[in-house]
Amino acid sequence: MKKIAAVILVLAMAASMVMVVSCKAGGGQMIGVAMPETHVQRWVKDGNSLVEEAKKLGYRAEAQFGDANQGTQNQQIQSFLTQGAKALIVGCINDGVAPVIAEAARDNVVVIAYDRIIPNSEDYDYYITFNNFKVGVLQAESIVAGLDLDAATSPKYITLFAGSPTDGNAFFFFDGAMSVLNPYIDSGKLVVVGPYPRTSSDTNNFQRIATENWQAPIAKTRMENLLSNDARNVTLDAILAPNDTLARAILEACKADAKYRGNLPIISGQDAEWDSAMSIKNGEQFSTVFKDTAKLAEAAIILADQVLKGQPVNIPGAVLATGDLAEIGNTGRKYVNAYLLDPILVTEDNLTVMLDAGFYDDRLDGGNPLRW
Ligand code: GAL
Repeated sequence: MKKIAAVILVLAMAASMVMVVSCKAGGGQMIGVAMPETHVQRWVKDGNSLVEEAKKLGYRAEAQFGDANQGTQNQQIQSFLTQGAKALIVGCINDGVAPVIAEAARDNVVVIAYDRIIPNSEDYDYYITFNNFKVGVLQAESIVAGLDLDAATSPKYITLFAGSPTDGNAFFFFDGAMSVLNPYIDSGKLVVVGPYPRTSSDTNNFQRIATENWQAPIAKTRMENLLSNDARNVTLDAILAPNDTLARAILEACKADAKYRGNLPIISGQDAEWDSAMSIKNGEQFSTVFKDTAKLAEAAIILADQVLKGQPVNIPGAVLATGDLAEIGNTGRKYVNAYLLDPILVTEDNLTVMLDAGFYDDRLDGGNPLRW
């Protein structure tokens, strides 16, 4: 009899341990990860990192990619809801996502906007991203440094590109950059070739330099048109490019024009994509902005875990946007809590930043860091 009682006691203790572990961890609850596209390299890495981080905390997780089609992503999100997801991490494509975010809210599912604001929605409360205004500032500062603009004795010529007009980030990137460039334009040190919106609020001109859905072919074609028209009789010294995918496409167009052979413009970028890191190493792209999306993914899952558990939000390495930066969390219908990580400017002088962060580990051969 005593033996049976002992066995029951041990089984009860084991069961309570399992309960504690599952309650303490993610309890096997599901987190749905909805990423926008795969034609921009970084989102594949984001999706994989988010799933990996969720599983570390005991959640089930699945990543889906919307191929830059909001209808597709909406179906993927609805599928997560049908599967009983308790939280959604969403990098949306455009404001067409709002109806399924409303559905999630009705189901009491936690929604976290991931590196892109979910516009025109009042049905979520959290956004995790980088200081996107600072991304633009860094892009422009690299151009000013690359041109040695402060010491320039003659005007330098620049043309401007912006990201997708469906992506709230594109406006912050551009406005951050123009906050640095406008004083040089006003003084005549910098001359804009092509459309010149002083800020993204100049909607007409901003739309003329924007790149629908961050599509590289659109940027390449626009650069080819500039080279044949507005920039035909001038040699460009710099190009403001909002991310790496577009920067490389723009450079392809420039390299096909004889006057830029061995004389490429100083061009910015963003995302520290491998191909652009190699381009910088080879002296073509001038700079990129490293946003450690492994850290962003970790932060997003920590945020989801704390919200799901009703704990106060405290994310190592992320600060709550306040003051002017709070605008980053403006959905157009409400202000959500936007938590910001810090971006890092990268040029040929500090390419090892990504290696040291293990950002390219999935590409390294046997773990031996590539030497730049
Ligand atoms: C933005 C993101 C950038 C870049 C771009 C292209 O929303 O903040 O880092 O990846 O999308 O997809």
